[in-house]
Amino acid sequence: MISARTVLRSPTASKQAATEILKTINGSTLGCRSSFIVAQHIQLAPTSQRHFSSSPNSPKIKEFFEQKQTEKVRKTPAAWEHPVYTEEQMNAVVVAHRKAETTSDKVALLAVKFMRWGLDFATGYKHEKAVALNEKDPEAAQRKYGMTEEKYMIRNVFLESIAGVPGMVAGMIRHLHSMRRMKRDNGWIETLLEESYNERMHLLVFMKMQRPGRFMRFMVLAAQGVWCNAMFFAYLISPRIVHRLVGYLEEEAVYTYTHQIKDLDAGRLPKWEKMQAPEIAVDYWKMPEGHRTMRDLLLYIRADESKHREVNHTFGNLDQKNDPNPFVSEYRDPNEPHPTRGLDYAKPTGWERHEII
Ligand SMILES: [Fe+2]
Ligand SMILES: [Fe+2]
Repeated sequence: MISARTVLRSPTASKQAATEILKTINGSTLGCRSSFIVAQHIQLAPTSQRHFSSSPNSPKIKEFFEQKQTEKVRKTPAAWEHPVYTEEQMNAVVVAHRKAETTSDKVALLAVKFMRWGLDFATGYKHEKAVALNEKDPEAAQRKYGMTEEKYMIRNVFLESIAGVPGMVAGMIRHLHSMRRMKRDNGWIETLLEESYNERMHLLVFMKMQRPGRFMRFMVLAAQGVWCNAMFFAYLISPRIVHRLVGYLEEEAVYTYTHQIKDLDAGRLPKWEKMQAPEIAVDYWKMPEGHRTMRDLLLYIRADESKHREVNHTFGNLDQKNDPNPFVSEYRDPNEPHPTRGLDYAKPTGWERHEII
């Protein structure tokens, strides 16, 4: 961990420190503390902010995502094996919404709507106006509010950098809770950490395709500083609300990727039509030969988001302290539909507690 003091010491130290911080953010060791220190760092040393920015061709960003090859190491494969999805399963993913019934559901939904408004505002996307104009004149709506490949990519990078936080924070809090109370966790931690790992893979894949500019990287950094701390306290107060909130956030993610696939199919995203998925994606999802296009990639990512939607809505229905994680449990009757890591039995709005426990 690096301190704000080290950063202020000298320009070289400052440069090194900024690199270290960015490495921490992009590495798997991300925790709340690092984000908090990053947030502090920005306030304390405004001049060092320039070290966080770079042009799209900066060699700095390259070094974070390049495959590490050394004299002895050929390749470092993904730590978590991704479950195999069939094409049929991925095509069956649908946009869905779980009705907010309880007060905590309504709080979670409101928070997601607010965040959605913030993202629309920041990226200049006027959803209501776009929908209204689309009803009157679809062509004019496309001209005025239509999304381009670049605009979608900015949205994706921002969304993914946000999405990778809750699972890691929740996993860490449950890990500490288990040790503090000397109680079993019943399998939740691994699924939560795997979720944030999966979100980070989404982010890395998009980063491979379009390197974000100076402003975007600053936005991601600032949002992470706030978001990670907010998630930490929210999960301590009410893990149930946080899981519901993530469930609603994932509903938005499925919606966004469905739109991208539709726009791609309608010929509105020509740059993506011939684009091939990067190697990191082919390796991670084990994308079969002949199914490695941008469209295939979006199908895989959307399927992952639908899984997160299901997992978090289900977790939001369970007894947080005593219930086992139904996604890694063995069932008395394995032939009955039950939650799994893959897409065998999809439940877009989550499993109810009485169905599985
Ligand atoms: Fe994602
Ligand atoms: Fe997700």
